[in-house]
Amino acid sequence: MADSAAAGTPGESRISRGRFVTALGGGALGLALGSGSGFALARSPGESAAETTIPFFGEHQAGILTPQQDRVVFASFDLTTTSRAELRDLLRAWTDAGARMTAGDPVGTVAGHPQAPPDDTGEALGLHASRLTLTFGFGPSLFDHRFGLSKRRPSVLTPLGPLPGEELDPTRSDGDLCVQACADDPQVAFHAVRNLARIGRGAAVLRWTQLGFGRTASNSNAKETPRNLQGFKDGTNNLAVDNAVDLQRFVWAGKDEPQHWFRGGTYLVTRRVRMLIETWDRLTLDHQENTIGRRKISGAPLSGQKEHDAVELDARNPNGSHVIPLTAHVRQASPKANNGQKILRRGYSYTDGIDPVTGQLDAGLFFIAFQRDPHKQFAAIQRRLGTQDELTEYIKHTASGLFGVPPGARQGGFVGEGLFT
Ligand code: HEM
Repeated sequence: MADSAAAGTPGESRISRGRFVTALGGGALGLALGSGSGFALARSPGESAAETTIPFFGEHQAGILTPQQDRVVFASFDLTTTSRAELRDLLRAWTDAGARMTAGDPVGTVAGHPQAPPDDTGEALGLHASRLTLTFGFGPSLFDHRFGLSKRRPSVLTPLGPLPGEELDPTRSDGDLCVQACADDPQVAFHAVRNLARIGRGAAVLRWTQLGFGRTASNSNAKETPRNLQGFKDGTNNLAVDNAVDLQRFVWAGKDEPQHWFRGGTYLVTRRVRMLIETWDRLTLDHQENTIGRRKISGAPLSGQKEHDAVELDARNPNGSHVIPLTAHVRQASPKANNGQKILRRGYSYTDGIDPVTGQLDAGLFFIAFQRDPHKQFAAIQRRLGTQDELTEYIKHTASGLFGVPPGARQGGFVGEGLFT
């Protein structure tokens, strides 16, 4: 089993779909390489980052600590089967396909028997692996009466219940299973979800999907912090994925998890947060900055000069008022205001056209966060934000998902195997 770092960091580059095509043009050598699954090639210095592959197998699933890719296609599925054996077969088939696709390979032949549909749909041929990761999760509903799995329910995988600041669309919320497909190329992420859905046919149907772009969190200091659709740098003060102590404390289900099979897993919360963009755009710069608690251009906290300066919640103006207003988002979301709790944010911006009734943009943040207890972490923070945070006036949570993300699979095993042993 690979160690935790291996699951979250780019590994050696293997021959990819893109290189396979080039290699084929190169004659016999290309054929020899292309036929050997798992054949590893050293990454040459000139090779672009897009060619890098992320290992699928490991202690934890990839796509959590992995430096955030540019795009997401998130999919939630409902099971149509009620057979435990079919659920197990599905998870094994998804794992096999996931390992192939994240290595840059098709799930099967694209040009097979002329009288049969191709095994792989083909739109990723010629594209690199693009750091594709596939992260699978189980909704609370998977542990109801259908599969006899209620005794295996991860200890805190229970519905979040109503939270302030939300008006949820059930058709875009929840689900029995989920897959988060992240990649630097949206076509690669889409291809992955589409082929998993095809493989699942007869056992699972898509419930909802969400496309996202422009990562809105920074889980590494290697890249510049991206901006969200309100124009602010988003992700500056995120939980750092190289902080092993924080990861044990706030992200991974540890030794105290009574469900042994779930140790090394985590919980994923998705929230489709619509920004009331037209209203936001009419606010003065001062008002926007006071709402967030940071400067728009530099990303610096109102109490500091530079982006990564500490957020000084106690700093006062000469007149005695708080420099970072009491209602500022960074104050209300801070660990200090939330019993020391932190979450690992890994969200994306989204835009889904316009609201047909008002003509306003339906755009915002597809919030994704990982934590070891969604009730003590996400829900507790959101309860505070929904009542104390001025940002709440300019956003609306329109959909919600909660999934237990099992630990990573070992080579030869499959994701969620512990459910069945
Ligand atoms: C559309 C909705 C949201 C927007 C536009 C937004 C935006 C921001 C921005 C600009 C920052 C400052 C930069 C940074 O440190 O990352 C921030 C910080 C933060 N946000 Fe949000 N956020 C949203 C929703 C949420 C939600 C739903 C949560 C959790 C329930 C959350 C939790 C946090 C946390 C924990 C911080 C870091 C606070 C600190 O300790 O400094 N945010 N957010």
